[in-house]
Amino acid sequence: MSSRFITTPIYYVNDRPHMGHAYASVHADVMARYLRAAGHEVFLLTGADEHGEKIARAAAQAGETPEAFVARHASEFEQAWHTLAVVPDYFVRTTAPAHKAVVQRTLQRLYDAGEIYLAEYRGLYSIGQERFVTDKELVDGKLPEDRDPPIERTEVNYFFRMERHRAWIRDLLLAQPEMIQPPQYRNEILQLLNEPIGDLSISRPASRLSWGISIPWDHEHVTYVWFDALLSYLSPLGYGQDEDENEDEAQVDHDPHGAPRHTSQTSAPSRRQSAFERFWPSATHVIGKDILRTHTLFWLSMGHAMGIAPYRRLHVSGHLLGADGRKMSKSLGNGVDPLEAARQYGADVLRYALVREVSFGFDGIISNTIIEQRLTRDLADDLGNLTSRTLAMIRKYREGIVPSARTDEVAERAIIERTEAMPAQVLALVEDMRLAQATELVMELVRHLNRYVASSAPWELAKSAAGDARLDTVLYTVVEALRAISDLLAPVMPAKMAELRGLLGLDGAPRWAQPWGEGVQAGARICEGTLFPKPQASPTQV
Ligand code: MSP
Repeated sequence: MSSRFITTPIYYVNDRPHMGHAYASVHADVMARYLRAAGHEVFLLTGADEHGEKIARAAAQAGETPEAFVARHASEFEQAWHTLAVVPDYFVRTTAPAHKAVVQRTLQRLYDAGEIYLAEYRGLYSIGQERFVTDKELVDGKLPEDRDPPIERTEVNYFFRMERHRAWIRDLLLAQPEMIQPPQYRNEILQLLNEPIGDLSISRPASRLSWGISIPWDHEHVTYVWFDALLSYLSPLGYGQDEDENEDEAQVDHDPHGAPRHTSQTSAPSRRQSAFERFWPSATHVIGKDILRTHTLFWLSMGHAMGIAPYRRLHVSGHLLGADGRKMSKSLGNGVDPLEAARQYGADVLRYALVREVSFGFDGIISNTIIEQRLTRDLADDLGNLTSRTLAMIRKYREGIVPSARTDEVAERAIIERTEAMPAQVLALVEDMRLAQATELVMELVRHLNRYVASSAPWELAKSAAGDARLDTVLYTVVEALRAISDLLAPVMPAKMAELRGLLGLDGAPRWAQPWGEGVQAGARICEGTLFPKPQASPTQV
């Protein structure tokens, strides 16, 4: 068993979670569940990015203190993940004392090592993106992703010597082509690295912005929100703490089912491997393309200066677009609210639609119509129908009792072979975050089984005793394949696939790569029910 560390972006909690956040979190959670099913020890991290100008402004507008404002929104995010069946092992908040301590220790160390200096800076600043921008990035006077143009700013800032690390980052990306996926994002960054990237302003004057982590040697400045937020990937692992002071370190324990659970406990000083040593080497960040630069230029150079190994993988998503084909955004009003969609269709259906519809790395549309099409076609018509017609035939022809397979023909051998090969194929795709392709592979099997039922014509076999053995075989083959499918899709639709197992008369947790014949047993009693009710026509369809 190997340890795997997976992170979502640490979201700004200036508003409620939106579909873009749900897209990233669901992908990270699905990957975590697959890897856990395959026997890895997984630590899934998410959290709230709570400092900075954007948050301070939003709090002021809401007439709340920043502390109260972020606490309220952070708990909305935690609740939202619960609703969407995203189960992190730890929820980090950048206002937590343990995180602040890591940021301040890191700053001090880098300052002492000569990686940080004070200078005057004049430039254009985007409040939307919380960073200085260059002229080259502007389209019609503003960043494409911003509503307002950047503002001119001159101030004294501390700078991190990012440019120093440029050649090293370039060499790293050239030597490890698989590190940033899909490859177009690696190419984009390699292109940027051909020219100077400059040093990074990492502080703001406290006189202008007090909502942040104080620079430890100069309290007139607070830490730039990105420098602070990126370190929240490390603080939950107890990074930089001495062995006898790691009180707030997130320990990953195991519940009786083998799933790691976070507990915050005081660990006795011991020789055991720290969470940082255990999990960091496998670090896999899941982000959107809007924060690609911060996760490459900023984060890799910070890590290099700090003397830690680079993360293992960066999975970069495209943008979700609204029904109008434009980037989903609150101001355009073209988004689907994830919590509303989960209420309307069920969390599992939303998770399936997100994962199957928009290939990770590419832009794609999510709308109510699209979610409903996925629900109707893939889930209700293909998987739901296969299940209900098979169970209905077992009730009708075999009194609800699963028969045993009694004949051995090419059609069944092909299904068994295909089903048994699938866990390894699915996992390989999951490792590359190609979840749309992984789920499609399983859905192809579902469609194949529907054709198998049609061509075997059990209703004809049931007409005479001569068809008895063959009918038993067909029925057993489909239920055992459905059992395998429930295991293969459980990470995407945990509740629905548990329901499917229940219909097949199985209890207990799904088992990954269970050999054919060891799942549903002859003699078991099946249940009946509708797995995926079709959506009611609604007036809100877009
Ligand atoms: N706080 C930073 C991240 C710090 S990570 C150390 C941040 N937060 S955010 O709340 O703005 O969320 C950014 C992430 O949300 C994006 O990277 C992306 O994953 C997701 N999305 C936001 N809008 C999106 C779409 N319209 N489509 C898809 N995902 C997008 O940036």
